[in-house]
Amino acid sequence: MRSRRSCLAVPGSNPRFLEKAQTLPADEVFLDLEDSVAPLAKEEARKNIVSALREGDWSGKVRVVRVNDLTTQWTYRDVIEVVEGAGEFLDCVMLPKVQDPTQVIWLDTLLTQIERTMGFEAGRIGIEAQIENARGLVNADAIAGSSPRLETLVFGPADFMASINMRTLVVGEQPPGYTEGDAYHYILMRLLMAARTHDLQVIDGPYLQIKDVEGYRRVARRAAALGFDGKWVLHPSQVEAANEVFSPSQDDFDHAELILEAYEYYTTVERRGAVMLGDEMIDEASRKMALVVSAKGRAAGMTRTTTFTPGA
Ligand code: GLV
Ligand code: MG
Repeated sequence: MRSRRSCLAVPGSNPRFLEKAQTLPADEVFLDLEDSVAPLAKEEARKNIVSALREGDWSGKVRVVRVNDLTTQWTYRDVIEVVEGAGEFLDCVMLPKVQDPTQVIWLDTLLTQIERTMGFEAGRIGIEAQIENARGLVNADAIAGSSPRLETLVFGPADFMASINMRTLVVGEQPPGYTEGDAYHYILMRLLMAARTHDLQVIDGPYLQIKDVEGYRRVARRAAALGFDGKWVLHPSQVEAANEVFSPSQDDFDHAELILEAYEYYTTVERRGAVMLGDEMIDEASRKMALVVSAKGRAAGMTRTTTFTPGA
């Protein structure tokens, strides 16, 4: 499992940001050709991205390039130029504003052709699909199942709010006048269900008030609590917050590891299925919950601080 707690947006038109991003402790970087790059700067940005991927030090990070969406004239050249130029140094292509499965299939086919032409390993480059409007959300299940290359669904709240006419200009915050519940709940849950149905990760999008780190944490915690794997970060100040919010706490990680070890011991050595661990009854379902927390913690590089003693 790739850790994607913090996914850093880096405008491809800005060589200084492309340098700086390499020094930040983000789990993923996505070098952008889409909305953070002006139309007249797109060609230059493709070149910057190819050299940054080839020459930069991105070790420990998932390397992603976001191309332009399929309603523009840029997408095919984005993919061909970047993947032919730096395909060996790239983990995923992010396709924004995905509306139906055929768009992902188009990208999958193009990647396959480029891999063959260039002699790259077949099928290694993954796809991240951004869901950013009502049509994309309604088709989320079909999109999530449309290609074995898919690794994540990604929520694009800014475009999404605009597309449904939600009355807010502050991305991630509740629209004024809506006092009951969470206006984003349905969308987040819908994406989570579609992603998990196909064993994909699911990532929350940006929080644009970059000075308000507490606001970032509040919004990130909501997505993390539901089960999201990570969130975009637009600024160095958000990276640490994302890594913290989307990692299990040390207590939860230790507890999960303890459950796994205890359950293994009781079910094999003692051949018992439902057993007591301290005051808690654990069974096969507890093991599954513990596996999730343990996998997230391990992917984040955590180590346990407790040991299991049978019968204790
Ligand atoms: C991101 O692309 C967004 O639209 O929020
Ligand atoms: Mg967007």
